[in-house]
Amino acid sequence: MKFTLFSLCIFLLFCVSAECSLRDIFSGFSDYQLFRGISGRRARFIKTRLRAGKIIPDVIPESFKPRVDLRISYVGRKMEFGTEYFPYKNETDMLPEIKYRARKRSYYSIAMVDPDAPSRANPFRAQVRHYLKVNIKGRDLNSGNSTSTPYLPARPFPGCGRKRFVWILAKQKRKIPDLNISTSRPGFNITKFVSENDMKIIGVNYFEVESSPGAVCTIPGTNPPTSSNATAT
Ligand SMILES: *[C@@H]1O[C@H](CO)[C@@H](O)[C@H](O)[C@H]1NC(C)=O
Ligand SMILES: *[C@@H]1O[C@H](CO)[C@@H](O)[C@H](O)[C@H]1NC(C)=O
Ligand SMILES: *[C@@H]1O[C@H](CO)[C@@H](O)[C@H](O)[C@H]1NC(C)=O
Ligand SMILES: *[C@@H]1O[C@H](CO)[C@@H](O)[C@H](O)[C@H]1NC(C)=O
Ligand SMILES: *[C@@H]1O[C@H](CO)[C@@H](O)[C@H](O)[C@H]1NC(C)=O
Repeated sequence: MKFTLFSLCIFLLFCVSAECSLRDIFSGFSDYQLFRGISGRRARFIKTRLRAGKIIPDVIPESFKPRVDLRISYVGRKMEFGTEYFPYKNETDMLPEIKYRARKRSYYSIAMVDPDAPSRANPFRAQVRHYLKVNIKGRDLNSGNSTSTPYLPARPFPGCGRKRFVWILAKQKRKIPDLNISTSRPGFNITKFVSENDMKIIGVNYFEVESSPGAVCTIPGTNPPTSSNATAT
């Protein structure tokens, strides 16, 4: 009884500082949501899946602690760690639906990177930055700064095999006033970016795509150059 009362007090204190609503208090209290965002079981599940897909350690360090569920869906289909989507059916053309639990007054960054560019076998262009937005206030995805990285759909080149695309949610310590970032998308490193900008990765999810068959994995526009500079994956 003592313990319960004590936790309730701590919880209410926490709530006042985190400006949560009554709904949060009741739903949160029942399932422990507000202390951790997600349960320990869910956190372990997420890490297991990320390790299985080698997202840990290829993109995300082993030290990553999942804090929230990064819920993403393309064309109404939920992404659950390795879900396959079909770029050639235009499934990944638009920015997906993105949901996560957030504090209203905190700032977040969201990114999508391709660690298998152009292929998982030879990712010499990795990571390609497909999307990056910083200074997102809470869950308001319309806020924030786009950092010269509007959404670039996943479009694997023929012959490049099966590839992964990783979505990352990071919590910022503060608003980033002036972000200088190279306009070039390849050669990005999300772990480095996050630590240089004093953020912490709190949520990760990923999907896979299969490129169309081809004898070799070539990047269109490299040799010979094409008229368009929009080389992506
Ligand atoms: C994908 O989009 C292109 C261009 O908008 C369209 O021509 C094509 O028919 C679409 N394919 C599918 C499978 O919907
Ligand atoms: C960031 O976004 C804010 C609000 O949309 C805008 O006023 C500001 O100019 C942007 N800063 C940069 C560097 O893009
Ligand atoms: C960003 O880059 C511009 C021009 O290269 C420079 O003047 C400015 O000081 C840089 N800002 C930061 C915060 O590094
Ligand atoms: C990204 O940067 C981190 C730390 O700066 C480094 O440990 C890691 O090896 C880099 N990852 C890649 C794929 O280069
Ligand atoms: C491609 O890049 C070159 C030099 O970087 C530029 O001169 C040219 O206008 C660009 N082409 C297109 C289609 O953007």
